[in-house]
Amino acid sequence: MAQPGTVQCNNDFKLPGIQQSKGTSHQGGYSHAAVVHALQKCGIRHIDTAKRYGCESLLQRAIRESGVKREDLWITTKLWHSDYGYESTKKACLESCERLGVEYLDLYLIHWPDAQVPGKSNREVRAETWSAMEELYEKGLCKSIGVSNFLISHLEQLKEDCVITPHVNQVEYHPFQRPQELVDYCRSRDIVFEGYCPLAKGEALSHPTVIQLARKYSRTPAQICIRWSIQNGIVTIPKSTKAERIEENCKVFDFTIAEDDVEILNGMHDGRHVSWDPSFIV
Ligand SMILES: NC(=O)c1ccc[n+]([C@@H]2O[C@H](COP(=O)([O-])OP(=O)(O)OC[C@H]3O[C@@H](n4cnc5c(N)ncnc54)[C@H](OP(=O)(O)O)[C@@H]3O)[C@@H](O)[C@H]2O)c1
Repeated sequence: MAQPGTVQCNNDFKLPGIQQSKGTSHQGGYSHAAVVHALQKCGIRHIDTAKRYGCESLLQRAIRESGVKREDLWITTKLWHSDYGYESTKKACLESCERLGVEYLDLYLIHWPDAQVPGKSNREVRAETWSAMEELYEKGLCKSIGVSNFLISHLEQLKEDCVITPHVNQVEYHPFQRPQELVDYCRSRDIVFEGYCPLAKGEALSHPTVIQLARKYSRTPAQICIRWSIQNGIVTIPKSTKAERIEENCKVFDFTIAEDDVEILNGMHDGRHVSWDPSFIV
């Protein structure tokens, strides 16, 4: 760990942690006012987006309106599988930069391990794609490069096929989905584990155990889930389209969940995915 709220990547960059993080996925809609509020009033500096979410251009407008300087932001976007391949990856990165109105990305991720390219294996396409990512990193267009939804098998193949170790693996992580073996594997290779859907898209918030712990700590269920991710050493990126919830989700640094309660939450893992399940992707 670097300074509070940031995580050291294996390329010397510091990834802003939760108190500064904001997801922007297409599911549940996009709110311009919420993004501007998060940047102006909540000190959020980490924006997680993707070509797939369709809001890169909207973010350009929100960032500009917020008045926050580019160099103070951490912007992550993701490469969608329709752009996988060597030349198309480089083109897609430039197009994302253009839509976001930036000259570089802080983090560029391969969104999903399945390539769906006829006549080529997934492994082959991931390797070609990753070599373009390496080039984007070496040219400075991407300050960090990583993957998303990659399992140990995918990361092991990439290790054999490529040179640069991914800086980040962004994977589903919430009380119902705690892939500890993958977390340990990423740590052993110095890959930052970033957890998405920390609230299980809201599903975790009505679970009796989470509600009970929220009462015990005089917090909200969302704050319990987010704090639990942080105490497990996970960079987490909750999303809300509502200003008051963004504020609530940021207030997680003035309490600690006792170790035995962390263990209770750890015990809620049942393997369920609320997003997508990469385990069938070879
Ligand atoms: N790499 C990937 O494949 C991938 C996949 C999925 C997500 N992600 C990233 O992870 C981010 C977060 O994931 P997510 O949006 O799917 O799930 P999430 O953050 O677990 O949950 C978001 C849901 O919880 C609600 N919510 C947020 N704060 C709340 C609070 N304090 N109280 C009650 N409800 C609250 C939101 O509704 P309101 O908007 O109405 O508040 C929304 O319905 C995404 O935006 C995206 O950046 C990445």
